[in-house]
Amino acid sequence: MATNRTFTMLKPDAVEAGHIGAILEKINAAGFRIVAMQMTELSINDAKAFYAVHSERPFYGELVDYMSSGPIVAAILEKDNAVEDFRTLIGATNPAEAAEGTIRKLYATSIAANAVHGSDSDENAAIEGSFYFSDRAKF
Ligand code: CMP
Repeated sequence: MATNRTFTMLKPDAVEAGHIGAILEKINAAGFRIVAMQMTELSINDAKAFYAVHSERPFYGELVDYMSSGPIVAAILEKDNAVEDFRTLIGATNPAEAAEGTIRKLYATSIAANAVHGSDSDENAAIEGSFYFSDRAKF
């Protein structure tokens, strides 16, 4: 059964470009409640650990360097069917393929600098949320 929480990060490109407010507004307008939120910076080792699932992929090094290149905003979001609905809201991983009106279509610049992360499953949402938040924010 789908849970009602997902995890997101506003990535360095979106933060650097000043899109935090606009993206959070879209998230709220789509009916998500922000349960926990933190602006922080990932070290190389943090980024490696967070994206360990991609460690065999050819873009892993680029992804780790990029995600540790500047501040990010991590958040846990709540809504019915959160994982799937949030992935619809953000659009395809590659912004060139993202649907009109989606966050990535509006704000992403490339497949690596794609503005936001959204968990791809309930299981990963719980793992990723726990990476940043503990106690009351836990799944
Ligand atoms: P995200 O949803 O955070 O999950 C994994 C990330 O890897 C993805 O968004 C992209 O930013 C990145 N990614 C996926 N495919 C590629 C690729 N071909 N080249 C560079 N980065 C990629």
